[in-house]
Amino acid sequence: MSFATIYKNSIEQPEAYWDGEAKLIDWQQPYSKVLDYSKPPFTQWFVGGKTNLCHNAVDRWVATQGEKAALIAISTETGSEKVYSFKELQAEVSRTAAIMLALGVGQGDRVLIYMPMIAEAAFAMLACARIGAIHSVVFGGFAAHSLASRIEDAQPKLIVSADAGSRGGKAIPYKPLLDEAIALSAHKPGKVLLVNRKLAPMQLVDGRDVDYATLRTQHIDAQVPVTWLESNAPSYILYTSGTTGKPKGVQRDVGGYAVALASSMRSIFCGNPGETYFATSDIGWVVGHSYIVYGPLIAGMATIMYEGLPTSPDAGIWWSIVEKYKVTRMFSAPTAVRVLKKQPPECMQKYDLSSLKALYLAGEPLDETTSAWISEALGVPIIDNYWQTETGWPILSIARGIEDQPSKLGSPGIPVPGFNVKLFNESTGEECGTNEKGVVMIEGPLPPGCMQTVYGDDERYVSTYWSVLNGKHVYSTFDWGIRDADGYYFILGRTDDVINVAGHRLGTREIEESISSHANVSEVAVVGVEDKLKGQVAVAFVILKNPAAANTAEAQQALEKEIMGVVDHQLGAVARPARVHFIAQLPKTRSGKLLRRSIQAICEGRDPGDMSSIEDPASLRQIQGALGR
Ligand code: PRX
Repeated sequence: MSFATIYKNSIEQPEAYWDGEAKLIDWQQPYSKVLDYSKPPFTQWFVGGKTNLCHNAVDRWVATQGEKAALIAISTETGSEKVYSFKELQAEVSRTAAIMLALGVGQGDRVLIYMPMIAEAAFAMLACARIGAIHSVVFGGFAAHSLASRIEDAQPKLIVSADAGSRGGKAIPYKPLLDEAIALSAHKPGKVLLVNRKLAPMQLVDGRDVDYATLRTQHIDAQVPVTWLESNAPSYILYTSGTTGKPKGVQRDVGGYAVALASSMRSIFCGNPGETYFATSDIGWVVGHSYIVYGPLIAGMATIMYEGLPTSPDAGIWWSIVEKYKVTRMFSAPTAVRVLKKQPPECMQKYDLSSLKALYLAGEPLDETTSAWISEALGVPIIDNYWQTETGWPILSIARGIEDQPSKLGSPGIPVPGFNVKLFNESTGEECGTNEKGVVMIEGPLPPGCMQTVYGDDERYVSTYWSVLNGKHVYSTFDWGIRDADGYYFILGRTDDVINVAGHRLGTREIEESISSHANVSEVAVVGVEDKLKGQVAVAFVILKNPAAANTAEAQQALEKEIMGVVDHQLGAVARPARVHFIAQLPKTRSGKLLRRSIQAICEGRDPGDMSSIEDPASLRQIQGALGR
């Protein structure tokens, strides 16, 4: 069947299409209904079916390829490298599951995972999946305040963490940040399970903190059976940034997610059991959930977890891993490729990369220069794919596992089967025609694998993401896009206040709230500004309560550093603005709405657009002045 026919079937007869795809995974009990869309926009997939993510990722493969590699944990930071076979992975996950059960964690309980990229992080995620606990992984680069707000929202019974991560050979302590976050949070976890890597000193809190290695020894022979879960039971919560300062807990199911990943591993990633997959992301992001941990394992592939920089010990490190483990499919982000592009070509050329069949890139727009360079350097197809934390797997791509269609530079591709993608005009609510810019939306029902709701807040899920247009429920991606005459989409940036720094999704409002906590800050605007390397960087414009504190260049520099320090401490260095400018007035509309898009336009040297609603045009000149223009 052609791609066009398969795609059409997936949209017109979703039940028949997904009933077929559901055969890619094991079910302990068959489902009675493929799709329940009786309460739109809420969608239930495979109703009544029982399955388990850990079973499909691990146990299922033990029988046929138990001795083959499942998890390859490499750290160039600590010089460690360990290959776990499916059998060994099952044993480790079982031990971690037994520890969790012994610590009182049961089905439906939340477990927050704040870990570096080490094997134990994957054990913890899979152990949760095994016993039906709901994990919430928080990116290790986030600091105390970010962590505290997630602890408060998820209310975990258990937190799994470590003494430290490591970056560029320098230990990054996690435990003090975790202690501070727990102190800040109104919710207190019952227990904290700590992996001691002996990278940084750790103070254990009596009665709360427990040592992973000790408990692992106690449960060394544990064999914890999987808990079969109804397909729509929640599997995890992953927080992501949006328009408000409060991150949203994206909640996903079990059965739909397993089927969607299995389906995408076949149709997009073309992975086969016994091969090796290497995604360079972090388990704290959605790519890490879907394509480091669950997706490759569900497809019976070995997956690589890499802790370290792409440039250390030299820029050949990733390629040496590809050669050594005969990686067939690799997944990364455009920023990483732009970093590697600056390195001497020998770093890549000295390795045998003949195993590699394709490189997948996602998370931010892939510019033509970067795409052309890496395609030439590797000699394999570069497959852009566009999606979000909310969808869990690609919305747009070229599904080469179904049909090898050409790609177009600058476009992530065409809608993937299951996603009924449409473009709507923001003001009229009408569907856009060819080459007409609009908001990228997906008509419900969303396919399996997408978010079920915002954790604990159905109302917020509906009001944030859904509208009714032309009598149909449509989900907004908050991205601008256009579609050409051949049906290829081009993504033109966010419609909201979310920015994308080096492929990391950040909310400008969160950064503004953090900067506002500085004693001398009266008002602040943060915008995302185009950056050659990182895609975007955050730039802050601050009005001081006491402007005299910044009346010399030195004082301004010191204050800028201080404000950056506040963000580092509260949110993490990942959210630190690249520049903080001091001004006396921010451009606003007469009704007091901040004109972020105009500020951003000025920063990028573009026309600020229609200024008829501005309160005081002099405020724009202030921005220009601050930028030295
Ligand atoms: O703006 C889009 C951009 O990243 C956002 C989603 O980020 P996140 O939730 O972190 O999920 C990343 C999953 C890969 C999108 O709304 N984005 C993602 N992929 C692309 C992209 N922009 C352009 N091209 C892409 N391939």
